[in-house]
Amino acid sequence: MQKQKILIVGSGGGREHAIGWKLAQSPNAGEIFFASGNAGTAKMGTNLEIKADDITSLIEFAKKESINLTLATSDNVLASGVVDEFKKVGLKIWGPTKAASQIEWSKTFSKDFMRRHNLPTAKFETFNDYGQAKKYIANHSLPIVIKADGLAFGKGVVICQSQKEAEKTLEDIMVKKIFGDSGNEVVIEEFLIGPEISIHALSDGKSYKIFPSSQDHKRIGDGDKGLNTGGMGVIGPLPFVSKEMMERIEKEIVAPALKGMSDDGTPFEGILYPSLMLTADGPKIIEFNARFGDPECQVYMRLLDSDLLEIINACVDKKLEKVEIEWKNVFACNIALASGGYPGNYEKGRLISGIDKAGLEQEIVVFHAGTTIKDGKTVTNGGRVLGVSATGNTLEKTLGKAYKAIEKISFEGMQYRKDIGKKALSLKKQR
Ligand code: AMP
Ligand code: GLY
Repeated sequence: MQKQKILIVGSGGGREHAIGWKLAQSPNAGEIFFASGNAGTAKMGTNLEIKADDITSLIEFAKKESINLTLATSDNVLASGVVDEFKKVGLKIWGPTKAASQIEWSKTFSKDFMRRHNLPTAKFETFNDYGQAKKYIANHSLPIVIKADGLAFGKGVVICQSQKEAEKTLEDIMVKKIFGDSGNEVVIEEFLIGPEISIHALSDGKSYKIFPSSQDHKRIGDGDKGLNTGGMGVIGPLPFVSKEMMERIEKEIVAPALKGMSDDGTPFEGILYPSLMLTADGPKIIEFNARFGDPECQVYMRLLDSDLLEIINACVDKKLEKVEIEWKNVFACNIALASGGYPGNYEKGRLISGIDKAGLEQEIVVFHAGTTIKDGKTVTNGGRVLGVSATGNTLEKTLGKAYKAIEKISFEGMQYRKDIGKKALSLKKQR
């Protein structure tokens, strides 16, 4: 087989670096291009100047360079309809269509989908009228969860501890439009209690393969304190999720959700990533994502034993049924190193030292996220800067290795969570 030229269109974060890193290990992988990229992807391929949402230029580039396979990997890229446009002109692309990825980019669509197909989720109502929404929260039990309909940079979910806070949140979203048009509609829902986990299933629209379970740590501070972030650290597979629980999740959530998408005329091709709460009443869906989680992806790329390029090609060709996906019999973690001030304001351009040294440690791979090259040096260029990933035979050892490697890395203001995986290690197996 001729080597394939690959284009990765996404947010240029740790997820994209990890996908590129894994694809590059395939004997059939040729040159890899990134729109956009970071200092890590620049070392393994070519970072393009083209913006990830500039579909016309991307198509022009893919045609000119005879790209064999494009991967669309981030939520805003999928919502822009890049997959549909590439397909229209006969270019091979991996990812869900705009209509299928609506399951992520519209929370009201997603919740209505769950109701229509009887999928377990928090009780909810949707509103496009501010007055009616306000009336509804007056009689709602606390805490009240309010979600803006559209994409809001991961900030569109507010958990309100009082009626007053809920009223203010509603006004901010629906009247003051702090998230713009994403706040034209809201979902108001019941608060769920239980450990939160990430499930990923790869589907070609006909069949699917479910990945091992994983868990992100979304808050900035230890003990799940402070503001929500894009994700500060992931572990997987989860020792507290039993085989029986995974079977239940597959039967009650993954299989009916994918069938529902097909039945609705929008078969799902790509990664369907529901985040779930394992409540006392069983697993319930918090939300659906239509892509790999970031940093969940970094953990999956470390755990995956099979050839990713072969799997993606099989998925695009709708032959997923024919491939076996093999996973390494280890645990993996990925710990984010973030800029000081993140998820609020932070400085860029801080010199980073020790990445190569950390990467020399056993079973350590350092994935770049918000980094760039300036005057030949690697500097910070975003909120989440690096992800230090490790693998090992036990979760404790894996985390220990990652934290030891982190000691080698430094940049001014660097912050990270010291308790990744701690809660998971203390949980009993859930059935
Ligand atoms: P999101 O920005 O959509 O990823 O949601 C942010 C976080 O809010 C989730 O990761 C959950 O921890 C939390 N969350 C969302 N919906 C609920 C709910 N109904 N009950 C409890 N927590 C929730
Ligand atoms: N890890 C959270 C996300 O990708 O949405």
